[in-house]
Amino acid sequence: MKLWGGRFTKETNQLVHNFNASLSFDQRFYQEDIQGSIAHVTMLAEQNILTQEDKNAIIDGLNSIARDIEQGVLVFDETSEDIHSFVEANLIQRIGDAGKRLHTGRSRNDQVALDMKLYTRKELREIDGLLKELLQSLLRIMKEHTDTIMPGFTHLQKAQPITLAHHMGAYFEMFKRDRSRLSDTLERMNYCPLGAGALAGTTYPLDRERTAQLLGFTGPTLNSMDSVSDRDYLIEALNDMSLIMMHLSRFCEEIITWNTNEYQFVEIDDSYSTGSSIMPQKKNPDIAELVRGKTGRVYGALFSLLTTMKSLPLAYNKDMQEDKELVFDAIDTAKGCIALFHGMLDTMVFCKAKMRSSAEGGFTNATDAADYLVNHGVPFRDAHGIIGQLVLYCIDKGISLGDMALEEYQAISPVFQEDIYDAIRMETCVDKRNTIGAPGPEAMKKVIALYETYLAE
Ligand code: ARG
Repeated sequence: MKLWGGRFTKETNQLVHNFNASLSFDQRFYQEDIQGSIAHVTMLAEQNILTQEDKNAIIDGLNSIARDIEQGVLVFDETSEDIHSFVEANLIQRIGDAGKRLHTGRSRNDQVALDMKLYTRKELREIDGLLKELLQSLLRIMKEHTDTIMPGFTHLQKAQPITLAHHMGAYFEMFKRDRSRLSDTLERMNYCPLGAGALAGTTYPLDRERTAQLLGFTGPTLNSMDSVSDRDYLIEALNDMSLIMMHLSRFCEEIITWNTNEYQFVEIDDSYSTGSSIMPQKKNPDIAELVRGKTGRVYGALFSLLTTMKSLPLAYNKDMQEDKELVFDAIDTAKGCIALFHGMLDTMVFCKAKMRSSAEGGFTNATDAADYLVNHGVPFRDAHGIIGQLVLYCIDKGISLGDMALEEYQAISPVFQEDIYDAIRMETCVDKRNTIGAPGPEAMKKVIALYETYLAE
């Protein structure tokens, strides 16, 4: 059934109907559509715009529609334009005239703005929950690996020794920021557009505070034209999801590298790996690669919606219907990726011995060797030069700093004493870095305690 047949004398061209219709995708928020309608009629009855009998009949009818859709008894038929027409037509079929009063003081413009907001709010909360679970796993790994030494990199070149806990902590920070961004978005978007009508409010004495309250909003939106044409929160949500994907993608990239034959820092569990159809030896990190790859889809949705919204005049324009498939796909992608990534991370084995020997092998203690000289009175710039010479010497001999004899050290600088060996041990290098945020065990313990409090909240 059409909601707007009155002023037309011809049937809609079938291709036009297909092109215009959104039921195939907006059926996804039928629950939110029904929830919004129930709040709307509850308020209408309280305001004496609708009788109690009509209100009760409408609510019973809407609940039976929801039940029938859930049980698969009621299927979405392609003749309806969108979820709003579908539900309304079905309601009228079920309860007759009372159903025709549902749309009093409402337009599909404020209705769709509401439905999309309710749906997005629910999904963003779910994404936040998934991120929290991921953080719980990250914290577990951190606690288990405060003394697992590995090389820290800059330019993908070995730089200074760190711990696996410290490396994981960097991602903890990223996902923590992602959660705080989601929470900002949720707070800013939490105003109810219902009652804005088509664009200019309505002549009925609606109680917009009441519907906002019934639907769990902070309050009603304050400009009816903005209410029906604001899609900022969707762009923000896509931005939040893009950043989540960017963080997952960076993490995946590292795992893919760590999982190579050359690194062997981690072993991805068999249940999260895939094989090759031709090369029997292969075990591929497809999940990490797919998460990395799907990041592009979410970025694409962000730019797509920004572009759709660019230059749209006030108020509602049909262009805005394009928000749905983009946002739905981004939400599905982000949720799937967080969950899959979490499973992969949780079952991954960290090869402590490989990480440690990699840190040993790459002159990651050269800065600490220079600091040793500085602590014995040598100016840092000179110390830098001396250690540079030592490194060159070691590269030539195929050894590391710790393998050099004291005489070899002293041949380059007499400042070196027996305690140089202790000063450049991997443990010493890490243990001495205890400013807040550094990998040293004291600093790490404090941060882990803060993270524990944060997750307990
Ligand atoms: N399917 C439409 C959308 O997603 C619903 C709003 C229709 N409003 C209208 N004036 N045609 O935007």
